[in-house]
Amino acid sequence: MQPSPATLKIADQDISLPIIVGSEGEKAIDTRKLRADTGYICYDQGYGNTGSCESAITYLDGDNGILRHRGYPIDQLAAHSNFVETAYLIVYGQLPKPQQRKEFGQRMRENAAIETQMHRLFEGFPKNAPPMAMLSSLVSALPAFHPQLATNNFEQDLQNFDLTAAMLISKVRTLGAMIYRYQKGLPFIFPKDIPFADNFLHMMFSEPYQDYAGIPEVTRALNLLLLLHADHEQNCSTSTVRMVGSSAANLFTSVAAGINALSGPLHGGANAAVMQMLQSIHDEGDDGTRFIAAARSGSKSNRLMGFGHAVYRNFDPRAKIIGKACEEVLTKLGIQDPLLKIAQNLERAALQDEYFVSRKLYPNVDFYSGIIMRALGIPTNLFTVMFAIGRTPGWIANWHEVASNPKGRIYRPRQIYVGPVMRDYIPMEQR
Ligand code: ACO
Repeated sequence: MQPSPATLKIADQDISLPIIVGSEGEKAIDTRKLRADTGYICYDQGYGNTGSCESAITYLDGDNGILRHRGYPIDQLAAHSNFVETAYLIVYGQLPKPQQRKEFGQRMRENAAIETQMHRLFEGFPKNAPPMAMLSSLVSALPAFHPQLATNNFEQDLQNFDLTAAMLISKVRTLGAMIYRYQKGLPFIFPKDIPFADNFLHMMFSEPYQDYAGIPEVTRALNLLLLLHADHEQNCSTSTVRMVGSSAANLFTSVAAGINALSGPLHGGANAAVMQMLQSIHDEGDDGTRFIAAARSGSKSNRLMGFGHAVYRNFDPRAKIIGKACEEVLTKLGIQDPLLKIAQNLERAALQDEYFVSRKLYPNVDFYSGIIMRALGIPTNLFTVMFAIGRTPGWIANWHEVASNPKGRIYRPRQIYVGPVMRDYIPMEQR
């Protein structure tokens, strides 16, 4: 049953605002006509309480630590699915049937390689260029190599969506491995006709004279890591993709913008920052007390990295899964990483600390993901690139919702202007 509208009283005017209810009972007040009717806009700095769209991709309940993709709980996907299948689910809305899964994998394998001309773009980068800067530049360059898939016309771009989506997921992964090889001064390794995660490990760690010997636990851990990052509702990078996409920008360009948004340390960059923090605790022989005390100051630059979340006021369900996987993977690989103990102690201490308890600050997905990546041989400066590889399906699905919405509008928030009021231009000699 449609709930009755909300009533907003401004001065002596009663304004009736429709209520929108989502499939999980989430409620919103529809203020779209508010400005036209009253001259008022909604002020919500940082959009923390603004629903910018209706979306059928991911359901997130931050108070209760729930995350579901297309209705499927993240713990079930983590236990039974792998990255490519979950990517299909996120992009297409259904778990694939065998033939659909085969075709999706085939499209990814056929489009995994990076064009030789594009290899030359690498040569322009300094060896120590930030990997996320390289990744976003290279993804920005993809429309130049595939103009037929990047027409900046929704209708045409949607006609080629199956190919573009598979190509992008595949190529972002290939580019990630190539960035690693380039920075190490190693020759590029071409993709093979093997599964997605194995292909990534092959392109990272094979040598021209010797193929990388796959380890099933490593492949599984990589699949889990990517799967857990595959989508997360209207976060900073995904909202960026939607915003850029709303201007009818093609999928490659929109995702390149998302990669840039992800690079910030308060978003995707946090996984590397966690490792730096754990490493300095280790090097100083501290037990983490200094970091916890500094975090209590409330200053943004002293935050306990990997803790807190803009939406979760409870355990990030991904952190629970990844924390457990972290111990298992290290045990299976026979790795004793002192940073794991430090992370576990830090988590215990923070969860007993009044500052963190009262603010409902729990470990987020980044708290343990770095330790797994380190065990897989992935260097810290590539962590955020790994996040981008995992998040690509979510960005694609969100772009698709924007592109295929017949009632879609360009994203254009308003503002409250607080600058100088009208004043006359002053000639240079009178200033
Ligand atoms: N360490 C110390 N204090 C914190 C932390 C932290 N990690 N996170 C939040 N706080 C404090 C805030 O300063 C604020 O304190 P106040 O009420 O005294 O002013 C209070 O907790 C509430 O903060 P929120 O409003 O919940 O935080 P916000 O939504 O602004 O930020 C964010 C969320 C950016 C994730 C923040 O928790 C943070 O900076 N965490 C560390 C970085 C990090 O791990 N980022 C990864 C996020 S997950 C992801 O992107 C995949």
